[in-house]
Amino acid sequence: MAQINPSILSADFARLAEEAKAVEGADWLHVDVMDNHFVPNLTLGVPIVEALSKATDTPLDCHLMIEDADRWAPSYVEAGAGSVTFHAEAAAAPVRLAREIRAKGARASMALKPATPIEPYEDLLPELDMLLIMTVEPGFGGQAFLDIMLPKIRRTRELISKHGLELWLQVDGGVSATTIERCAEAGADVFVAGSAVYGAADPAAAVRDLRALADV
Ligand code: DX5
Ligand code: ZN
Repeated sequence: MAQINPSILSADFARLAEEAKAVEGADWLHVDVMDNHFVPNLTLGVPIVEALSKATDTPLDCHLMIEDADRWAPSYVEAGAGSVTFHAEAAAAPVRLAREIRAKGARASMALKPATPIEPYEDLLPELDMLLIMTVEPGFGGQAFLDIMLPKIRRTRELISKHGLELWLQVDGGVSATTIERCAEAGADVFVAGSAVYGAADPAAAVRDLRALADV
């Protein structure tokens, strides 16, 4: 079944606990960590992740858009994240880092910016629990979905099948009722949605509607 992960980036940061509760029923809560270096935007860090993990029963899916991921990613597991995604472009030793995240008890995930191909990472896939294909340039919510990423999603799904792996394939950026079916058809099974959920009058209903569309 498709998983829908609302992105707290599009929520009201002054009411994070309430906003997290508004989407209980979602599979994971997606938390975008930005450092103003890896991406030109700054959001939140370990203390807020720790507070959020206590404020909701929904497990946290932390997407780290930060430099020097090797150094910082393990702290997010300690802060309570159930899944930690580092960027391939920001990790010096992705295998060691994925093993460290798993050893600390979270799911290990790696993200690829739009211009980063999957092929150099084929042999690393068994080390991961999830691969994230960005469908916008990371940094901001509310950007238009890049449908030029659909072939990469398709090729990644083929590699996962070829190796008989269980890893989840996540898409993030511009995912909405008008784009989610194309992502699902290409092989994605975990969908991040920020503005499409928190921009809706009823965020919980938006999660259910997206899940129904992705499940066809
Ligand atoms: C963008 C973030 C996304 C963002 C998605 O860099 O990684 O998670 O919140 O927002 P929407 O769904 O509005 O594109
Ligand atoms: Zn994200």
